[in-house]
Amino acid sequence: MHYFDLKDGVLHAEGVSLETLAQEAGTPTYAYSAATLRRHYGLLREACDAHKGALGDALIAFAVKANSNLSVLATLAKLGCGADTVSEGEIRRALAVGIPGERIIFSGVGKTDAELAFAIEQGVRQINVESSAELDRLIAVSSSLKQVATASRPIGTPNIAIRVNPKIGAGGHAKITTGGAGDKFGVPVEEAMALYARASASPHVTPVGLACHIGSQITDLSPLEAAFRVLRQMTEELRAQGHSVTRLDLGGGLGVPYYGEAATPSPAEYVAMAARVLDGLNVEAAFEPGRLMAANAGVLLSRVIQVNERTDGRRFLVLDAAMNDLMRPALYDAFHDLKPVRPVAGAALPHDVVGPVCETGDTFARDRDLPPLKAGDLVVFMSAGAYGAVMSSEYNTRPLAAEVLVDGDRHAVIRPRPTYDEMFAREPVADWL
Ligand code: LLP
Repeated sequence: MHYFDLKDGVLHAEGVSLETLAQEAGTPTYAYSAATLRRHYGLLREACDAHKGALGDALIAFAVKANSNLSVLATLAKLGCGADTVSEGEIRRALAVGIPGERIIFSGVGKTDAELAFAIEQGVRQINVESSAELDRLIAVSSSLKQVATASRPIGTPNIAIRVNPKIGAGGHAKITTGGAGDKFGVPVEEAMALYARASASPHVTPVGLACHIGSQITDLSPLEAAFRVLRQMTEELRAQGHSVTRLDLGGGLGVPYYGEAATPSPAEYVAMAARVLDGLNVEAAFEPGRLMAANAGVLLSRVIQVNERTDGRRFLVLDAAMNDLMRPALYDAFHDLKPVRPVAGAALPHDVVGPVCETGDTFARDRDLPPLKAGDLVVFMSAGAYGAVMSSEYNTRPLAAEVLVDGDRHAVIRPRPTYDEMFAREPVADWL
C-alpha cells in the first residue's frame, strides 16, 4: 500500500507531482511518502496493540539499515517508533532524531569494542549478542566501563539478548537469507543456551531474552512461525533452568509485493501469527521491520537519456539512474516495477532497462514490456524506499541521488545531490603531489 498515484494524468507522491520534484531536485532522485511510512507503522502498531496479551507492550524497531535518512527516521520517531541498528553510526542517527536509547536495539555480527562501549554509554534498550567471542568482549568492555563510571556519569549494566540461528533460512535471495545453518548470524540453539547461562553468571551483562532474524523479503509465514516456535521452546527451557527471560526479539523479514500483486501476508496476519505462537509466555515482543515499513514508501525518479534501437533488434532504455543509485537489481536480480510519470500511449514493447555505468551489471531489467518512451521522459522505479538510497555509491563519479520527502502538499529536499566540488573536497590530495 502506498500513496503514489496518478492525478490529472501525472504521477504524484501524495499531493505533489513527480514532475515538480524532478524540476526542483533534478534526477535521479529518491522521493518518499510520509503518509505511507505512517500508514505502515500504524498498521503494525494497531496489530501489536490488538495482541497485548500475548506480545506485551511490543516494540516496533525500524531497521535503520533499510532507510537511514534523518527525515525518514524523524517521521517514524514522532510516532513512537524504535530503531534496530547495526553500527555506531546508525545508533547516532536514531539518537539524533530523538529516538531514546530505551527504544534502540543494537544488533550485528561484528560490533567493535568502541561500538559496544558507545551503546552501553547511551543506555540502549538491548544489545543482541551474536557469538561467544562477542559475549566475552562485551563483558570485558562493560566491566572496564564500570571502573571509570562516576556518580555524575553512571554506567548501567547492558541488557542483552542472545541471537539464535535456528537453522531456518528464508528470504527472497540467497544473499539476504540470514537464519540458515551456514549463515554467519547468531549461534545454534545449544550454544545459545550455554551463552545465556554464561551471561546470567556475569555481573557485567543482564540477559533479558532471545533474538532471531532469519532473512528478508519473506513472503510465506511458515518459516517465520517455525523460528518463533524455536524461541518459545528455548524460553521455556531457559526458565525451567531458572533463568529469567522477559523479551523476545522476532527480527524483521516480512516481504512486500514488488510485482504489484497482493501475495504477501499482511502485517496483521504476521503479528497475529506471532501472538498465536507466543501466547501465554508472558514476554515483551520486539519486531524489526525494515522493508515492510519503507519499501513502498519510496520511488526512484529518473529521466530517460535516450532509447538505443539496435540493428540486431535489441531496444535499450538508457536512464540517468544507474546501479550506483539502486543496486538491488544488479546484486539480487531484484524486480522493481518501472512506471512512466506521464502515461504514454502506444503498444508495449520489450526493453532492456539500463543505466550509464560502464558494466553490464548495470541493467535494471531485461525484456521489460514498456510503452514507447523517449528521451526526456520521466520514469520511476517503484518500491525503492528500502535498501535503495542507503546502498548507493558514487561509482563512476556519479553524485549520490538526491532525496526528497513529501508529506501531503509539502515537500523538502532531505539530502541534496552533492556538487562535484563537495565530492572532491572529501579527498585531500597528498601534499607531495
Ligand atoms: N533485523 C535484522 C537483524 C536484520 O539483519 C535485518 C535486515 C532486519 C531486521 C530488517 O529486515 P527486513 O524487515 O527489511 O526484511 N539489502 C537487502 C536486504 C538486506 C537485509 C539485511 N537485514 C535487499 O535490498 O533486499
